[in-house]
Amino acid sequence: MSKQKRIAILTSGGDAPGMNAAIRAVTLKALSFDHHVFGYYGGYNGLIGEHFTELGAAHVADIIHRGGTILKSARCKDMHTNAGILQAVNSLRKNHIDALIVIGGDGSFKGAQELAQHWSGQIIGIPGTIDNDINGTDATIGFYTAIDTALDCIDKIRDTAQAFERTFVVEVMGRDCGIIAMESGLASGAEQIICKELIDDESSFVQDLKEKVADSLKNDAAHSYVIVMAEHSLSISAQELAQQLSNFTGIDSRSAILGYVQRGGAPVAGDRILATQLGVASIAHLEAGDNGVMVGIEDNKVTLTPLKETSDTHQRNRSFVARLKEYRL
Ligand code: F6P
Repeated sequence: MSKQKRIAILTSGGDAPGMNAAIRAVTLKALSFDHHVFGYYGGYNGLIGEHFTELGAAHVADIIHRGGTILKSARCKDMHTNAGILQAVNSLRKNHIDALIVIGGDGSFKGAQELAQHWSGQIIGIPGTIDNDINGTDATIGFYTAIDTALDCIDKIRDTAQAFERTFVVEVMGRDCGIIAMESGLASGAEQIICKELIDDESSFVQDLKEKVADSLKNDAAHSYVIVMAEHSLSISAQELAQQLSNFTGIDSRSAILGYVQRGGAPVAGDRILATQLGVASIAHLEAGDNGVMVGIEDNKVTLTPLKETSDTHQRNRSFVARLKEYRL
């Protein structure tokens, strides 16, 4: 039998639906090996401030279907300082932690790599962010729910766009990655999708877009026109783009920013299953002695990616978007 380990777990960065399912899977799987699991509150802030509780089966009962994270989350400024990193390391040592499981995104994995410079315990990452922008996994926990939430909102916007014969620019999240825009745009039958990965030259892209909208309004019987736009994909806001479209076409355009609604809600089945698979895999790989890696799922198989490679996303995101671009009608 393997040595009983003291495993710390935290959720960090933008919360994502399914994080609770991952906490549950990690905890139950670890308990099955008689390990101890300590849930740290508020991401790395909890580690630095030694704010934690030992998790038993009762703590994780009845959470698989809940959005948010029972451990809370944060973007921890102190982890950008040497003093903060050393405090976190001291906290791990003082509490005799053998292994740390970090559920989060790119920034959270950078924090984990900083800790690894000073601490020899095992570290495993689990990709949790609605953005689906992590190298080494086909999907991140939270993504499936976020696109369904965005889709539900876009469908509703379509109803009012249709009734008023308006053009709408709907901004979705995704920070530096257009996958939420691409998938929710495809699924909603949006007339246009805007994301960085599709733009070479912004001014010609916007000019072309205006002409396409104007042409469609002239030609089509049904005059609703929905444009799904990833946040930060243009130098102008969704509101400004809608204004420019109104000016160019002479037809009312409106904008809607979906915002944080995309981070909330009960996780859909896809996220619960992904979170469960990755949670179980993280403990299996701790048992196998792996360290400094993220567990992901690619082509239906569990894969390991060194944490330092998880932020190499440029090529990955572009090829995801390029693959989906083929299906635009
Ligand atoms: O990382 C997830 C995300 O929701 C991004 O889509 C968004 O840009 C960002 O977090 C918002 O971050 P914050 O919660 O710090 O405002």
